[in-house]
Amino acid sequence: MRQTSLSVDLETAAACRSYIMRVLVITGAGVSAESGIPTFRGEDGYWRNFSAAKLATPEAFERDPKLVWEWYSERRQRISNARPNAGHEAIAKLARQADEFLLVTQNVDDLHFRAGLANEAMVQIHGNIFVTRCCRCDFRRDYNHEHEDVLPRCPGCAALMRPGVVWFGERLPWSELQRVENYLDRGACDLVVVAGTTATFGYIINWALRASRCGGELIEVNPEETPISQFATQLAREPAAIALPRIVDATVSYSH
Ligand code: OAD
Repeated sequence: MRQTSLSVDLETAAACRSYIMRVLVITGAGVSAESGIPTFRGEDGYWRNFSAAKLATPEAFERDPKLVWEWYSERRQRISNARPNAGHEAIAKLARQADEFLLVTQNVDDLHFRAGLANEAMVQIHGNIFVTRCCRCDFRRDYNHEHEDVLPRCPGCAALMRPGVVWFGERLPWSELQRVENYLDRGACDLVVVAGTTATFGYIINWALRASRCGGELIEVNPEETPISQFATQLAREPAAIALPRIVDATVSYSH
């Protein structure tokens, strides 16, 4: 594990391989932090004294759906007013340069998309905050159809509508899970970047390790240590908006 000159490392790696650059990027809340979107854990992870990690649960919605809707409405508003940062833009640039690319993001915001990353290149494994869905049946729709002042109900079965996100303890969406599995099954990656996530979920660590299984670089971008750190071939202990543009520029200039 090193915190040395990334460009030198990538130059050496590129000289040793003539590869098709296959890339997996995994992001979490830290990548949107510099766009002003609060993270889930740590100092930022509170809203009106409630812990964000506890609000994003089915139990919280059952107990107080209005409170949870208010939290998501405020988050949605904040996201709408935010702009993608240099980290989001660097990832979109990497996607354009790589031969094969997939982003798996735990973020429910649309900042990767607004930075120019196509939906086909991205899996939002924890859902999308701009979609709502029925608590009971399969009905889903765009958030714009909901009215802010009332608790929205399903037009089909009258159960409460809820944000179209995955809450702690819930199953991941099957189709999105399959997209990640298919990408990993098709081959190992030359470059895996894990940025701005505490990597608390086993599947995040598992995907990063599977993708880098054949000696690919595994770069972690995070000011703090996480469970991924021990497996990383390189660590960038910096904010994503600073580290990602540098990493992407080094990769792009030495791989083509
Ligand atoms: P967390 O809030 O748990 O972690 C944010 C991570 O970003 C931490 O490891 C920080 O050290 C790091 N960080 C903070 N600022 C950063 C910056 N400027 N640049 C880079 N890194 C920075 O967010 P996630 O790991 O994304 O799930 O949380 C995972 C999931 O837990 C969320 O998707 C959410 C939550 O429960 C659900 O809602 C299902």
